Amino acid sequence: KIGNKNVELGEGDVKGTRVKVSGRIHRLREQKQATFLTLIDGYGHLQCVLAAGDLTKTYDALTFAQGTSLTLYGEMRKVLAGQQAPDNRELHVDYYKVIGRSPSDAEAITNKVSKEQDQWESSMLDNRHLVLRGDTASSVMKVRSAVEWAFAKAYKEMQFTKISPPAFVQTQVEGGSTLFELDYYGEKTYLTQSSQLYLETGIPSLGNVYCIEKSFRAEKSLTRRHLSEYTHVEAELDFIDFEDLLDHLEEIISKVITTIMDDKEIAGYIKELNPEFKAPTRPFKRMRYSDAIDWLNAQDPPILNEEGNPHVFGDDIAEAAERRMTDIINLPILLTHFPVEIKAFYMKKEDADRRVTESVDVLMPGVGEIVGGSMRMEEYDELMEAYKREGISPKEYYWYTEQRKYGTSPHGGYGLGLERFIAWICKQHSVRTCCLYPRFMGRCKP
Ligand code: 4AD
Ligand code: MG
Repeated sequence: KIGNKNVELGEGDVKGTRVKVSGRIHRLREQKQATFLTLIDGYGHLQCVLAAGDLTKTYDALTFAQGTSLTLYGEMRKVLAGQQAPDNRELHVDYYKVIGRSPSDAEAITNKVSKEQDQWESSMLDNRHLVLRGDTASSVMKVRSAVEWAFAKAYKEMQFTKISPPAFVQTQVEGGSTLFELDYYGEKTYLTQSSQLYLETGIPSLGNVYCIEKSFRAEKSLTRRHLSEYTHVEAELDFIDFEDLLDHLEEIISKVITTIMDDKEIAGYIKELNPEFKAPTRPFKRMRYSDAIDWLNAQDPPILNEEGNPHVFGDDIAEAAERRMTDIINLPILLTHFPVEIKAFYMKKEDADRRVTESVDVLMPGVGEIVGGSMRMEEYDELMEAYKREGISPKEYYWYTEQRKYGTSPHGGYGLGLERFIAWICKQHSVRTCCLYPRFMGRCKP
């Protein structure tokens, strides 16, 4: 593999290790004295040199193109002083075999630029299978893989148990308007919006639990942070209070960032994608919703609500206002205590102010909300009332409600949108480039 650093590099009369390496041509430069290839194999980039002559005059060499897959044999050498190549080494090829040719349009496809942003994006997404071979897309995917692993590592260290809730469900979690409904052997069923309710049923016997699963939302608007199918990192913590939940959120986010930044390869990708990225320092800024409303109105000029008026208590802080706020404050924010009316049915109310919930959104600069969480209602009667308020039929929720009958507990949890987290770390304009094949309204291919 290209990433293998266990090879002696030749220099002067000293012979370097002879290697065999397989990969695809990423870049191609033909010069009088040699042909230079940059080879990729998913583990790195390797500069390869074919001295002009027999090696470069074959039909295979004359038809080299971006994407051509081949196996190369030769000696690894240090690059000459004053020249540059990945890891300062190059493969001096003495023999090769072409495995699969590639048409010469691959480069044109992956670099296609149109003046129309929409058209450009649409063609990039139609060709996502090829775009994924590019440096940016593959770096984002490497970071994403590292982040998923870092979450698993952090949860393991914190003694959380991983569980795998179902995707076919008959209960909504985050409101009826974004449900994907389907026919399940004749029964009305949905694709899950969140695994939260199922996680809550895990805590009595498993302790704190987490899952990394897909969630589905029929989002009927096209924004740069909404997908129809996204990866949801969710956790549920037992016998905690709201402060514990906020502390835990800071801790898990900090742990994950530390893990990925300690990995040289991953830190390198992040540096390329987002040179200004800095690990956030604890404690994060904490702000109550009501103070955020005052803050928005106090800006000069004020940041207005969706109707173009100053914000009042009870307004949703819409995406645009939220983004302005995070961009100005430019720090991670734990925004807490949202009004009951704008939050989900299961959220516990604050004792001191019954108009608000013990809820939290984590906001990041450049993206806005990346986490939504809360303490959950513990009391049976209160929950029954909440179903009524929301017009939810309690029947399908019997298994969730019964948690309150069979030994209830103060508990809470959260969900983190993995693509939004990646967009923040990798400074991506949209969550669409933070998944392998994005799904959103109007796109279900490739
Ligand atoms: O705020 P949300 O809707 O909260 C929940 O689903 C809770 N039940 C989670 C829990 O407590 N276990 O979603 C949580 C996060 C959001 O903050 C956002 O990052 C992400 O999920 N998210 C989306 N990401 C991409 N596309 C969408 N359509 C998303 N909807 C939510
Ligand atoms: Mg939310």
